Amino acid sequence: MSQPLKLGIAGLGTVGTGVVKIVQKHADLLEQRSGRKVVISAVSARSRTKNRDVDLSAYAWEDDPVALARRKDVDVFIEVMGGHDGPAKAATEAAIASGKDVVSANKALLAHHGQALAEAAEAKGHVIRFEAAVAGGIPVIKALTEGLAGNQIRRVMGVMNGTCNYILTRMESAGLPYETVFEEARQLGYLEADPNLDVGGIDAGHKLSLLAAIAFGTKVSFDAVDLEGIGRISIDDIRRAADMGYKIKLLGVAQMTGRGLEQRMSPCLVPADSPLGQLPGGTNMVVLEGDSVGQIVLRGAGAGEGPTASAVMADVIDIARGTRLSTFGQPARTLVDPIAAQATAPAPFYLRMALSDKPGALAKVATVLGDEGISIDRMRQYGHADANAPVLIVTHKTTRDAIDHALSRLPATGVVLGEPVAIRIESV
Ligand code: HSE
Repeated sequence: MSQPLKLGIAGLGTVGTGVVKIVQKHADLLEQRSGRKVVISAVSARSRTKNRDVDLSAYAWEDDPVALARRKDVDVFIEVMGGHDGPAKAATEAAIASGKDVVSANKALLAHHGQALAEAAEAKGHVIRFEAAVAGGIPVIKALTEGLAGNQIRRVMGVMNGTCNYILTRMESAGLPYETVFEEARQLGYLEADPNLDVGGIDAGHKLSLLAAIAFGTKVSFDAVDLEGIGRISIDDIRRAADMGYKIKLLGVAQMTGRGLEQRMSPCLVPADSPLGQLPGGTNMVVLEGDSVGQIVLRGAGAGEGPTASAVMADVIDIARGTRLSTFGQPARTLVDPIAAQATAPAPFYLRMALSDKPGALAKVATVLGDEGISIDRMRQYGHADANAPVLIVTHKTTRDAIDHALSRLPATGVVLGEPVAIRIESV
């Protein structure tokens, strides 16, 4: 009979308590599937007295996660505390140094230190697994490292921050401005302690950088992700985009191009009738494209107790079964430094601007666009009561540089009022 697999859980927030519940509720199932018992030896959190709606009395308690990581009765250190430095990093390093396997839900830690941590663990013959760090309950790390291992990956794409998707879809369905829905999201407890992690695109950028490392065999390079949050998206843009057949999503895209690795997390227009366009509320979706498999779409809960704990347990069961995969799908020391693409692939763009309603105004704008090599695909001018004509333009494929040059020249035309908006249209 195999020895039980002994867990130490650092962090008893939503995810940590979810893991405890699964271990307690599914003890028999876990044993049947793993071929050995899975038990919790010890736990650690900031407060021992907080009511967590779960019985912890059978487990040893450690105030210090580093002490937990070093315990002799822990085989697998589960890090569900969060934070890219401080105790999470110290405890993960201590676990690796003490010869433990690590299961982490911490995207920020891995996006910043994943390469060094993976090299250290793999040098000692141990594993770091992080299914729960990307898109919550969606088994996207498994899909990439295992299910699609025989493919050259062409593109990884996705909506990987449920809070932003909630805000954007709620703005549209209720016709509410960004500030109002942001406040609603705060009241509902959807926002991270630092909301900029969500609405600034950082949390989703962390996740994208981890997927890119697996997909393209490159070292995690979060600093090279081109990041833009959703704070500038107005209800006007959401309505106008819908009129033209699009939805606005905070979309992450990673692809290897002739110019290098492109990683961007930014608001994009996607066709309203595409799977990404139809993604509701706080849900996540990841789209993976491989040379043999074509496109596959994974959709599910990107956060929350059950879904995230489900992902943690998938990694725990792998370790219990003896499945030992490299952190990023190939030995960490073989990952290469990516060359970051200096420019993004050409795409159509959506432009919204207000023009003085006088003869020749549109012609002046069209001239600037033409001078920059930007061709207009569709255009619409909306009815208006005052002298400002709202105009929407959808361009043919062009570069972000050309769009930026054109935008910088528009004020000199004397006919563009306020600041025009430009949003990339992603073909999905
Ligand atoms: N704050 C994230 C989200 C969940 O809204 O999707 C944790 O990554």
